[in-house]
Amino acid sequence: MIDPDPVGLPPTNDTFHDFEHAGWERASEHYGDAFGALTTQTAGALLNAAGTSSGTRLLDVATGPGFIAAAAAARGAHAVGLDFSAAMIAEARRRHPAIAFREGDAEALPFDGASFDAVVMNFGLLHLARPDAAIAEAHRALRPEGLYALTVWAEPEQAAGFGMVLNAIQKHGNPNVPLPEGPPFFRFSAPEEITRTLEHAGFSDVEVRTLPLTWYLTSPDGVFDALSRGGVRTAAVLRAQTAAALAAIRAAVRGSVEAYAEDGRFAVPMTAVLASGKKSHRDTRPR
Ligand SMILES: C[S@@+](CC[C@H](N)C(=O)[O-])C[C@H]1O[C@@H](n2cnc3c(N)ncnc32)[C@H](O)[C@@H]1O
Repeated sequence: MIDPDPVGLPPTNDTFHDFEHAGWERASEHYGDAFGALTTQTAGALLNAAGTSSGTRLLDVATGPGFIAAAAAARGAHAVGLDFSAAMIAEARRRHPAIAFREGDAEALPFDGASFDAVVMNFGLLHLARPDAAIAEAHRALRPEGLYALTVWAEPEQAAGFGMVLNAIQKHGNPNVPLPEGPPFFRFSAPEEITRTLEHAGFSDVEVRTLPLTWYLTSPDGVFDALSRGGVRTAAVLRAQTAAALAAIRAAVRGSVEAYAEDGRFAVPMTAVLASGKKSHRDTRPR
């Protein structure tokens, strides 16, 4: 497995932040088509958990191509999408010209305190160099009693698309290629860890549940292609493999996807974890 155990978190640093940034600039062209039909499956539950309705001032952090901001705007919310990748912001504006998108960092939000009724982050937390800082920033940007909701992927046994690629790299390639060290990808998959972290940041009424998403694919190479072109960390591991190892990994992943054949397509289970919390009425933390 590529990701270390969540115990003994590694120090996070600017090198990892910059590695992720460069990766998303590169992946922006492919990400939306590769992952959009999957990641948008959370939109209803995520927006409900954040209490989104007409007039809600909502910030979608790590918006990518703007999927969740657009779903919030469709409910009549005043949605703003934020992402640190200029290429992603350009893609979001191209797809959703009527929505406000802003370039900025989840770890240092460019907004005053108490600016939003709701802050959401769909599959963003697991890419951050300093996820705890991003959660603290979401808390700061919320008004008292504002709602925060986020999703991450479940452990790779439940998010099978990740599991099959990580297992194939382990078996046929080299999982230990040199990469900037970042927080464990699956740190927040554990309900106890995301609950503890949200409560530590000052959120109350924390709720965590799983969402049984399914990745529908027309090609058995869909998982490999998506992760190698539309992602960052795993894509970098794949790029570092030898040609022979890469071919073996691709074939192994194809075989794993084929096991999920169903009605002329492939239906890969991709469980997500949804966590939410409320900023307390009287927040005494320094701004
Ligand atoms: C997996 S994509 C999620 C996109 C979208 N939320 C969705 O639902 O599909 C992760 C996004 O997080 C963004 N991101 C990563 N680190 C960030 C940071 N520190 N600040 C803002 N955005 C960041 C990336 O540029 C990328 O667009």
